[in-house]
Amino acid sequence: MHHSQNRATLGGKLSAVLVAAGSSVGLGNIWRFPYVAGDNGGGAFLVIYILCVLLLGLPVMVAEFTIGRASQRNAVGAYRALNPRWSFLGYNGVLAAFLILGFYFVVSGWTAEYMIHSVTGSLAHFTTPEEYSSIFENFISNPWRPVLYTGLFVLVTHFVIALGVQKGIERSAKLLMPLLFAILITLAIHAMTMPGSIEGLRFFFKPDFSKVTASTILVALGQAFFSLSIGIGTMVTYASYFKPDTNLRHTALNVTILDTLVAVLAGVVIFPAVFSAGIEPSSGPSLVFITLPGIFNTMPLSMVWSSVFFLLLVVAALTSTISLHEVITAYLHEEWRLSRRAAAWTTTAATMVLGTVASLSLGVLGGWKICGLSIFDSLDYITANILLPLGGFFTCIFVGWRLDQQILKAQITNNGALKFRIYRLYIFLLRYVCPIILLLIFLDNLGIF
Ligand code: TRP
Repeated sequence: MHHSQNRATLGGKLSAVLVAAGSSVGLGNIWRFPYVAGDNGGGAFLVIYILCVLLLGLPVMVAEFTIGRASQRNAVGAYRALNPRWSFLGYNGVLAAFLILGFYFVVSGWTAEYMIHSVTGSLAHFTTPEEYSSIFENFISNPWRPVLYTGLFVLVTHFVIALGVQKGIERSAKLLMPLLFAILITLAIHAMTMPGSIEGLRFFFKPDFSKVTASTILVALGQAFFSLSIGIGTMVTYASYFKPDTNLRHTALNVTILDTLVAVLAGVVIFPAVFSAGIEPSSGPSLVFITLPGIFNTMPLSMVWSSVFFLLLVVAALTSTISLHEVITAYLHEEWRLSRRAAAWTTTAATMVLGTVASLSLGVLGGWKICGLSIFDSLDYITANILLPLGGFFTCIFVGWRLDQQILKAQITNNGALKFRIYRLYIFLLRYVCPIILLLIFLDNLGIF
């Protein structure tokens, strides 16, 4: 197997976990998970979600880690080195990373704008939900402000990537992930002391099986894959920087535990606030950008809580945009032989253009539609409903059926140094359970059922 001589590797054991958790923990956990869980049966959804994470997410993450560390290449190069016929999976990853960044940068830009307005206090001038709703609508459809903030976010991401794997990605994860946990725990404790918080927690945790349908499993699995950053080669790219003695299984287990913990804590922060204000929990972007600012406003020290909350979102989004940017940068650097600098700038410029179009598609370019969806919504739709489950499906097939099993075993056991007692169970999940369920999700998303 080819090993590049001077390829960067991450430092200690903790670095692998923090960097991968940085990618996983993002807007998916704090913004999307709570309302998806609330809409799909609360505690009942949580149980199904955790089963999906453990039975399906974990095996796929270990599979991606295997591909990355075995090849020590970018997503495309990794498949090319292991089995050239499967390089399409790498291209699917680079394309999906690019398309996800297109809308993810835009939402990240909103969080940055809201953070800055919280700090300056200009978000505290309003009172009614209608006012908060209209400032949000005005803001996202404004022709230049969201583009400016998107650009700001792209540049900060670029700056971290340009510093390199160790000085940029690893150092930022070591700094930002503890910060994220500190903020989240502070907010959770604060939320639980609010009047009416019990009702919020009950809504979030109470199992409501009447809302569980066949498609709940599919919703849970889609959420799990997006939240864990798996299916499209992000973890392949990160694992290509892991050290030979990194324990892939433990790293994957720790990342999934942290990721799930953040999702649950986010619900603990958000729902008590929603219920103590006597507001119906609504879904989507409105929960974080409309409902919450209104609620913060009614609390003592509102500017502080709202600034801290949006800082949390910014931090969570940043470590995820870094990981998506790295997928493309590493590809351009290694496959197109651009310098890392040039590769990073190319990625930055391209995502900036796409992000601008996506942002404008919510305002002045609102007439541009793909199958009835705005550009922004179609980027979300294409990646979450098509590229992600397809990528996950083929990753299972490749690692379960096509990859030389010696390579798989060597990676998982670090060449025999570690024991893996449930290897057979692992292979069974990877070969049968994961691909079949992923295929079902995919068909369901296309409206086959
Ligand atoms: N997991 C991140 C979140 O929860 C988003 C993300 C980063 C992602 N890299 C990814 C999603 C790769 C899918 C695939 O916000």
